[in-house]
This record gives sequence, structure tokens and C-alpha cells, in this order.
Amino acid sequence: MKKQKEFYTVRGYQMLNYEKKSVTSSMEDYLEMIYRASLKEGFARTNQLAENLNVRPSSVTKIVQKLKELELVNYEKYGVIVLTKKGENLGKFLLKRHQIIEEFLKSLGIQDVLLQDTEMIEHDISFHTLKAIHLFNQFLIENPGILKQYEIFKTKHQNIGFCYPESIK
Ligand code: CO
Repeated sequence: MKKQKEFYTVRGYQMLNYEKKSVTSSMEDYLEMIYRASLKEGFARTNQLAENLNVRPSSVTKIVQKLKELELVNYEKYGVIVLTKKGENLGKFLLKRHQIIEEFLKSLGIQDVLLQDTEMIEHDISFHTLKAIHLFNQFLIENPGILKQYEIFKTKHQNIGFCYPESIK
């Protein structure tokens, strides 16, 4: 089971690398969202996507058309979007990538900008760093004392000497 998961993750990355020129950050966001919806219902809907991504249904149609050209989704009648096997593999990877980064930022104590920063980091992070973070998350789970120590350290060192440069404040 674990081996298969790993396979999909690595495979997803390889696919992403392969498609790098054609899959934009925004297309990654759509695919991740389509995958999330598909996990629940087996498909996604244009209207639902537009709502979740805070865009107009016409923008969704445009991007979904591009995903279709890459054979990542099939676009059926009545705004129903179904992932192809290729799209499913890539979507699975994108969701996992999101979760790994989010979990790591949470461990650091990030709250207010958690989603915003996860969304920014996820598109540009290398697989090498992502894997290292994944391993580090696992380390924290298996050694809960470390995180507790860090929490204590953090409260003691709130005002660590690191500031925004005056000129760009
Ligand atoms: Co995301």
C-alpha cells in the first residue's frame, strides 16, 4: 500500500516535470481542485469549481479546455469534468504536495497566511525539497516531544532579531 502511494507521488512529479511547459500554476490549482472534488463524488462541476476558486464559470471553462487538450480531463455535458487516469495521477500528486507543505507550515505555527503561503510555495518547490519536508513532517510525528520543545522555544523568543528592511515596509 505504502509502496503504491510512493509510486504515484514520484510518477506525478515526473509527469509534472514532463508537462512543465504546458501546465501553468493556475492549471495546477484547477487540477488539484478537480481532484479534491473527484475524491468525494467521482467528478467535478464547472459551477462548483468557479465557486471554490473564486472565479467566473467562463474562466473555468477556458482552463478546463486546456486540461482537456493535455488529456488530463474529459469535459462532458452539463459542466461535468472527469479526470483521465493521467489527470488522476497528477491530481493525486498535487494534493499530496499541498498537504506536505501545509503540514510543515502548521508545525512552524503558521496560521493566518497558511493557505496563502502554501499556494505560493507549492508551485515552485523542487521535488528534492518537497521530499525532504515530507520526511521532516514524518520525523515530527514520530517524535512529538521535538515539536513541544519548539513551541516552548518559540514563546521565549518571540522577538527574534529579524525585521523587514525599512525601505520596503
Ligand atoms: Co493547492
